[in-house]
Amino acid sequence: MSFEISSEQEMIRLMARDFAKKELEPMAAQWDRQGIFPVDTIKKMGELGLLGMMVPSDLGGSGAGAVAYSLALQEIAFHCASSAVTMSVANLSTEPLLKFGTPDQKKKWLTGLAEGSLLGAFALTEPGAGSDPGSMTTSAKLKKDKYIINGSKVFITHGQYADVINLIARTGQDKGTKGLSAFIIEQGTPGFKIGTKEEKLGLRASNTVELVFEDCEVPIKNLLGNPGEGFKVAMLALDSGRIGIASQAVGIARACLEEAVLYTGQRRQFGKSISSFEAIRFMVADAATKIEAASWLTLAAADRKDRGLKFTREASMAKLFASETANSSAYMALQVHGGYGYTKDYKVERLYRDARATTIYEGTSEIQRIVIAREVFKE
Ligand code: CAA
Repeated sequence: MSFEISSEQEMIRLMARDFAKKELEPMAAQWDRQGIFPVDTIKKMGELGLLGMMVPSDLGGSGAGAVAYSLALQEIAFHCASSAVTMSVANLSTEPLLKFGTPDQKKKWLTGLAEGSLLGAFALTEPGAGSDPGSMTTSAKLKKDKYIINGSKVFITHGQYADVINLIARTGQDKGTKGLSAFIIEQGTPGFKIGTKEEKLGLRASNTVELVFEDCEVPIKNLLGNPGEGFKVAMLALDSGRIGIASQAVGIARACLEEAVLYTGQRRQFGKSISSFEAIRFMVADAATKIEAASWLTLAAADRKDRGLKFTREASMAKLFASETANSSAYMALQVHGGYGYTKDYKVERLYRDARATTIYEGTSEIQRIVIAREVFKE
């Protein structure tokens, strides 16, 4: 077996690293403290092609593919995990249009999303429907040539700043995963407004809001795919999304490892640098090993996607392992910092908070295990 990163993929990685070092690292701590969503910086990411990496170039994307996307996202997350989730969800939001959009829909929205002139979001979760999106109640009722949408969505990443939102709502009488359909909603549509903005533990420079729909009228031409295909649209988008979150988690974990190595090399106790103690070295060795494994699992899932193979199982494995690794690495990094790690003066405090979301969104670790087990038993 051989797996080599091409020179083009390496170039994209270096471009993302350079951007993140210059534009994200100097600001990330301040954005986190003040809860600022960095609109202009995200625009710059769009201009660099980082928000439409899976979209072919003839549709406005960079056509870089999933492996290059994962490598770039890891670099962004290493410096600012919040910007990484923005990048991940923006890329996720191109997938439904890419797979289910008509030529007109692609022209109207996908090109803008891929070029970065539009920002896309993904609205699935509801107050009573998180791990079980099949129980959603937001309704879209057909009236002549319009759908009338009522209900609310929660925890929507950059919902406040998105120009275009992929919305899943119930169009049929069927219960569960049947009778759901996908729509494109434009910001500013009458009857659609932004509700509560969440104050989060971490990822505080990523915007997370509630979306409220009250008799919101959407033209029938905004329906994505066939009526009743909404759950499939969402699951296919989430397969890709999970590669994004796994990549974000690897980037966070690498940042934790770096902080741990730097700090333990400088910190002296009992007359020597604490990095010379075996207790510390073994913690670092375990984290480094897990991070390497998480990275390969993530790239393997991305590689399957690039080769047009099914990657549901691999994306869930990568998301599960990488997010758990981000958390164990953050725990380790904070632990070796001792009391200093528990203060706002050290970067590990932010990394510890940022890592926590990765085992929760885009399917909890428990949901990933359900997906993996189903695929394994199918085999
Ligand atoms: N690709 C294509 N089709 C799929 C699929 C996939 N990955 N997964 C399921 N389906 C299809 C099934 O084949 C089935 O089709 P048929 O009815 O034709 O047989 C249909 O969808 C229903 O599937 P299930 O019976 O498996 O559905 P379920 O109700 O048991 O749920 C689940 C499965 C995996 C648990 C799913 O509900 C799930 O992934 N839950 C987690 C939701 C989630 O990840 N939410 C994240 C919100 S977005 C977010 O966090 C973004 C952000 O802002 C950061």
